[in-house]
Amino acid sequence: MSLRTHLVAQFKRPTGLPGRLAGWIMAGRPSNRLRNSWTIDQLGIRPGDRVLEIGFGPGLALAWAAKKAPNGKVIGLDHSPVMLAQATKRNRLAIAAGRMELHQGGLEMLDRIGGSFDRIVSANVVQFWDEPAAVFRALKARLAPGGRIATTFMPRHPGAGRADALAMAERIEGWMKEAGFAQPKTAWLDLEPVPAVCVLADNAL
Ligand SMILES: C[S@@+](CC[C@H](N)C(=O)[O-])C[C@H]1O[C@@H](n2cnc3c(N)ncnc32)[C@H](O)[C@@H]1O
Repeated sequence: MSLRTHLVAQFKRPTGLPGRLAGWIMAGRPSNRLRNSWTIDQLGIRPGDRVLEIGFGPGLALAWAAKKAPNGKVIGLDHSPVMLAQATKRNRLAIAAGRMELHQGGLEMLDRIGGSFDRIVSANVVQFWDEPAAVFRALKARLAPGGRIATTFMPRHPGAGRADALAMAERIEGWMKEAGFAQPKTAWLDLEPVPAVCVLADNAL
């Protein structure tokens, strides 16, 4: 495995010390912080909402979501134990207060968690899913009537540009439509060197 492949793998499933470093990079990088807080703003979280994040990484978006839902609950899934540890530390107060629950695992955990969600979010995770339309279908089944889903992506590969962000936004909109969402819409955040896109869709009431 080349060094680059090894590094990219750390963002897909952070493990060991390199994974901890990847988490620190994600937590400290200004573009990552902004992308996550902007994504949470796009969701329009209400104070009592039940919010799900898939692939929470070091837990930035979880923290912002918990602030927006002081009377609700934020539930997170990430298959990396290293990210679970970092996100747990970052969000220990919300967890201790019973306002946040974090799990190690992927979508299969949803059966154990149960219930529906008012808001579902992921940021820079969609590129790792083997069957994105199937994932969106499974998430739609757990989204409450009138609920909203947001999927953010910012291309990170060398030479990435606006066209890559646009191409992914179109693909995400297509997968969401396949999953049954009627009118996905894309919002843009101009970041350097590449914009981030957030594709949003609402469940019918
Ligand atoms: C590039 S990081 C993004 C982290 C965070 N969302 C952010 O923007 O700071 C991707 C995260 O998603 C997690 N992940 C990737 N695929 C996943 C899956 N199928 N199920 C659960 N977690 C997943 C990884 O472990 C990693 O923490």
